[in-house]
Amino acid sequence: MTLDSNGHFMIDDSAKHVLGLELPTDPRWVDIAEKNIEDILVDHAYCEQKAATSCISMIVLFPEKEKLVEVMTPVVAEEWGHFERVLEELKKRGYKLGFPRTDEYVKQLIKIERKGGSRDQQLMEKLLINALIEARSCERFRLLWKNIQDKDLANFYYELMVSEASHYKNFLQLAKEYMPEATVMKRWKELLEEEAIIMSNLTPRQDRLH
Ligand SMILES: [Fe+2]
Ligand SMILES: [Fe+2]
Repeated sequence: MTLDSNGHFMIDDSAKHVLGLELPTDPRWVDIAEKNIEDILVDHAYCEQKAATSCISMIVLFPEKEKLVEVMTPVVAEEWGHFERVLEELKKRGYKLGFPRTDEYVKQLIKIERKGGSRDQQLMEKLLINALIEARSCERFRLLWKNIQDKDLANFYYELMVSEASHYKNFLQLAKEYMPEATVMKRWKELLEEEAIIMSNLTPRQDRLH
Protein backbone atom coordinates (compact mmCIF):
# COMPACT_ATOMS: atom_id res chain seq x y z
CA MET A 1 0.00 0.00 0.00
CA THR A 2 1.16 3.57 -0.56
CA LEU A 3 1.32 6.06 2.25
CA ASP A 4 1.69 9.82 1.87
CA SER A 5 4.06 12.03 3.90
CA ASN A 6 1.56 12.11 6.78
CA GLY A 7 1.37 8.35 6.90
CA HIS A 8 -2.13 8.29 5.36
CA PHE A 9 -3.17 5.96 2.59
CA MET A 10 -2.78 7.52 -0.84
CA ILE A 11 -6.13 7.97 -2.52
CA ASP A 12 -6.67 5.76 -5.51
CA ASP A 13 -8.22 7.95 -8.23
CA SER A 14 -10.85 5.51 -9.35
CA ALA A 15 -12.07 4.74 -5.85
CA LYS A 16 -12.10 8.37 -4.83
CA HIS A 17 -13.58 9.99 -7.91
CA VAL A 18 -15.89 7.35 -9.23
CA LEU A 19 -17.20 5.99 -5.95
CA GLY A 20 -16.31 8.68 -3.42
CA LEU A 21 -14.56 6.13 -1.18
CA GLU A 22 -11.90 7.66 1.03
CA LEU A 23 -9.71 4.62 1.48
CA PRO A 24 -8.66 2.31 -1.36
CA THR A 25 -8.40 -1.39 -0.64
CA ASP A 26 -4.97 -2.66 0.30
CA PRO A 27 -3.72 -4.06 -3.04
CA ARG A 28 -2.34 -7.15 -1.27
CA TRP A 29 -5.93 -8.26 -0.71
CA VAL A 30 -6.33 -9.37 -4.36
CA ASP A 31 -3.34 -11.73 -4.17
CA ILE A 32 -4.57 -13.40 -1.03
CA ALA A 33 -8.16 -13.46 -2.29
CA GLU A 34 -7.18 -15.17 -5.53
CA LYS A 35 -5.48 -17.96 -3.62
CA ASN A 36 -8.71 -18.54 -1.68
CA ILE A 37 -11.29 -18.23 -4.38
CA GLU A 38 -13.58 -20.86 -2.84
CA ASP A 39 -13.89 -18.85 0.40
CA ILE A 40 -14.23 -15.60 -1.53
CA LEU A 41 -17.03 -17.03 -3.68
CA VAL A 42 -18.90 -18.42 -0.67
CA ASP A 43 -18.59 -15.11 1.14
CA HIS A 44 -19.59 -13.29 -2.03
CA ALA A 45 -22.73 -15.43 -2.43
CA TYR A 46 -23.87 -14.33 1.01
CA CYS A 47 -23.07 -10.69 0.23
CA GLU A 48 -25.51 -10.95 -2.68
CA GLN A 49 -28.08 -12.63 -0.43
CA LYS A 50 -27.69 -9.84 2.15
CA ALA A 51 -28.05 -7.20 -0.55
CA ALA A 52 -31.32 -8.80 -1.72
CA THR A 53 -32.56 -9.21 1.86
CA SER A 54 -31.73 -5.62 2.68
CA CYS A 55 -33.67 -4.29 -0.34
CA ILE A 56 -36.66 -6.46 0.61
CA SER A 57 -36.51 -5.09 4.17
CA MET A 58 -36.59 -1.51 2.90
CA ILE A 59 -39.67 -2.29 0.79
CA VAL A 60 -41.39 -3.88 3.80
CA LEU A 61 -40.40 -1.08 6.19
CA PHE A 62 -41.38 1.76 3.84
CA PRO A 63 -44.23 0.47 1.66
CA GLU A 64 -45.76 3.97 1.45
CA LYS A 65 -42.73 5.27 -0.49
CA GLU A 66 -43.82 4.56 -4.04
CA LYS A 67 -40.61 5.55 -5.75
CA LEU A 68 -38.59 3.42 -3.33
CA VAL A 69 -40.74 0.35 -3.98
CA GLU A 70 -40.55 0.95 -7.72
CA VAL A 71 -36.74 1.25 -7.76
CA MET A 72 -36.00 -1.45 -5.16
CA THR A 73 -38.15 -4.24 -6.58
CA PRO A 74 -36.01 -4.87 -9.69
CA VAL A 75 -32.84 -4.47 -7.59
CA VAL A 76 -33.99 -7.39 -5.38
CA ALA A 77 -34.31 -9.53 -8.52
CA GLU A 78 -30.88 -8.43 -9.76
CA GLU A 79 -29.18 -9.19 -6.44
CA TRP A 80 -30.83 -12.59 -6.29
CA GLY A 81 -29.70 -13.13 -9.88
CA HIS A 82 -26.15 -12.37 -8.72
CA PHE A 83 -26.55 -14.94 -5.94
CA GLU A 84 -27.53 -17.53 -8.56
CA ARG A 85 -24.56 -16.58 -10.73
CA VAL A 86 -22.14 -16.98 -7.82
CA LEU A 87 -23.66 -20.41 -7.11
CA GLU A 88 -22.91 -21.34 -10.74
CA GLU A 89 -19.29 -20.18 -10.38
CA LEU A 90 -18.96 -22.32 -7.23
CA LYS A 91 -20.47 -25.33 -8.96
CA LYS A 92 -18.23 -24.97 -12.05
CA ARG A 93 -15.23 -25.26 -9.76
CA GLY A 94 -16.59 -28.16 -7.73
CA TYR A 95 -17.16 -26.08 -4.59
CA LYS A 96 -20.17 -26.01 -2.28
CA LEU A 97 -22.04 -23.06 -0.81
CA GLY A 98 -21.24 -23.66 2.85
CA PHE A 99 -22.60 -21.67 5.78
CA PRO A 100 -22.65 -17.87 6.07
CA ARG A 101 -19.70 -16.27 7.83
CA THR A 102 -19.62 -13.30 10.18
CA ASP A 103 -19.46 -10.11 8.21
CA GLU A 104 -17.38 -7.76 10.40
CA TYR A 105 -17.54 -4.99 7.82
CA VAL A 106 -21.35 -4.92 7.66
CA LYS A 107 -21.60 -5.37 11.45
CA GLN A 108 -19.48 -2.26 11.96
CA LEU A 109 -21.46 -0.29 9.38
CA ILE A 110 -24.75 -1.14 11.09
CA LYS A 111 -23.31 0.30 14.31
CA ILE A 112 -22.81 3.71 12.69
CA GLU A 113 -26.36 3.80 11.32
CA ARG A 114 -28.09 6.72 13.06
CA LYS A 115 -31.27 5.60 14.77
CA GLY A 116 -34.30 7.81 15.36
CA GLY A 117 -35.41 10.92 13.52
CA SER A 118 -38.22 11.10 10.99
CA ARG A 119 -39.13 8.21 8.70
CA ASP A 120 -37.48 10.04 5.83
CA GLN A 121 -34.28 10.43 7.86
CA GLN A 122 -34.29 6.75 8.79
CA LEU A 123 -34.80 5.80 5.17
CA MET A 124 -31.96 8.09 4.07
CA GLU A 125 -29.70 6.44 6.63
CA LYS A 126 -30.51 2.95 5.35
CA LEU A 127 -30.09 3.97 1.72
CA LEU A 128 -26.72 5.57 2.39
CA ILE A 129 -25.40 2.58 4.36
CA ASN A 130 -26.48 0.33 1.49
CA ALA A 131 -24.86 2.72 -1.00
CA LEU A 132 -21.59 2.45 0.96
CA ILE A 133 -21.66 -1.35 0.75
CA GLU A 134 -22.41 -1.16 -2.98
CA ALA A 135 -19.55 1.28 -3.54
CA ARG A 136 -17.07 -0.84 -1.59
CA SER A 137 -18.21 -4.04 -3.33
CA CYS A 138 -17.86 -2.30 -6.66
CA GLU A 139 -14.31 -1.25 -5.77
CA ARG A 140 -13.42 -4.83 -4.77
CA PHE A 141 -14.97 -6.29 -7.94
CA ARG A 142 -12.93 -3.82 -9.97
CA LEU A 143 -9.75 -5.06 -8.30
CA LEU A 144 -10.70 -8.67 -8.95
CA TRP A 145 -11.59 -7.92 -12.58
CA LYS A 146 -8.28 -6.14 -13.18
CA ASN A 147 -6.00 -8.50 -11.34
CA ILE A 148 -7.11 -12.10 -11.20
CA GLN A 149 -5.63 -14.62 -13.64
CA ASP A 150 -8.85 -16.63 -14.08
CA LYS A 151 -10.29 -14.76 -17.12
CA ASP A 152 -13.71 -16.33 -16.84
CA LEU A 153 -14.04 -15.09 -13.29
CA ALA A 154 -12.50 -11.72 -14.18
CA ASN A 155 -15.27 -11.17 -16.77
CA PHE A 156 -17.88 -12.14 -14.20
CA TYR A 157 -16.49 -9.56 -11.77
CA TYR A 158 -16.45 -6.91 -14.48
CA GLU A 159 -20.18 -7.42 -15.04
CA LEU A 160 -20.92 -7.28 -11.33
CA MET A 161 -18.83 -4.13 -10.91
CA VAL A 162 -21.01 -2.37 -13.49
CA SER A 163 -24.20 -3.60 -11.87
CA GLU A 164 -23.25 -2.63 -8.29
CA ALA A 165 -22.13 0.81 -9.50
CA SER A 166 -25.61 1.43 -10.82
CA HIS A 167 -27.17 0.30 -7.51
CA TYR A 168 -24.90 2.69 -5.66
CA LYS A 169 -26.10 5.56 -7.86
CA ASN A 170 -29.74 4.49 -7.52
CA PHE A 171 -29.56 4.46 -3.71
CA LEU A 172 -27.97 7.89 -3.49
CA GLN A 173 -30.52 9.25 -5.95
CA LEU A 174 -33.36 7.71 -3.96
CA ALA A 175 -32.11 9.30 -0.74
CA LYS A 176 -32.39 12.67 -2.51
CA GLU A 177 -36.04 11.93 -3.35
CA TYR A 178 -36.89 11.95 0.34
CA MET A 179 -34.40 14.37 1.91
CA PRO A 180 -32.89 17.66 0.70
CA GLU A 181 -29.80 17.13 -1.45
CA ALA A 182 -27.54 19.17 0.87
CA THR A 183 -28.59 17.02 3.87
CA VAL A 184 -27.98 13.80 1.93
CA MET A 185 -24.55 14.92 0.73
CA LYS A 186 -23.51 16.12 4.19
CA ARG A 187 -24.43 12.78 5.75
CA TRP A 188 -22.87 10.88 2.82
CA LYS A 189 -19.56 12.66 3.40
CA GLU A 190 -19.66 11.80 7.11
CA LEU A 191 -20.44 8.17 6.33
CA LEU A 192 -17.63 7.96 3.78
CA GLU A 193 -15.22 9.12 6.45
CA GLU A 194 -16.56 6.63 8.98
CA GLU A 195 -16.42 3.83 6.43
CA ALA A 196 -12.75 4.63 5.77
CA ILE A 197 -12.03 4.35 9.50
CA ILE A 198 -13.85 1.01 9.70
CA MET A 199 -11.98 -0.25 6.65
CA SER A 200 -8.59 0.84 7.97
CA ASN A 201 -9.20 -1.05 11.22
CA LEU A 202 -10.16 -4.29 9.46
CA THR A 203 -7.33 -6.60 8.45
CA PRO A 204 -7.72 -7.62 4.79
CA ARG A 205 -8.86 -11.23 4.94
CA GLN A 206 -8.22 -14.01 2.50
CA ASP A 207 -11.71 -15.39 2.97
CA ARG A 208 -13.83 -12.26 2.86
CA LEU A 209 -15.04 -10.03 0.10
CA HIS A 210 -14.87 -7.02 2.46
FE1 LIG B 1 -25.07 -7.73 -6.37
FE1 LIG C 1 -25.87 -4.32 -5.56
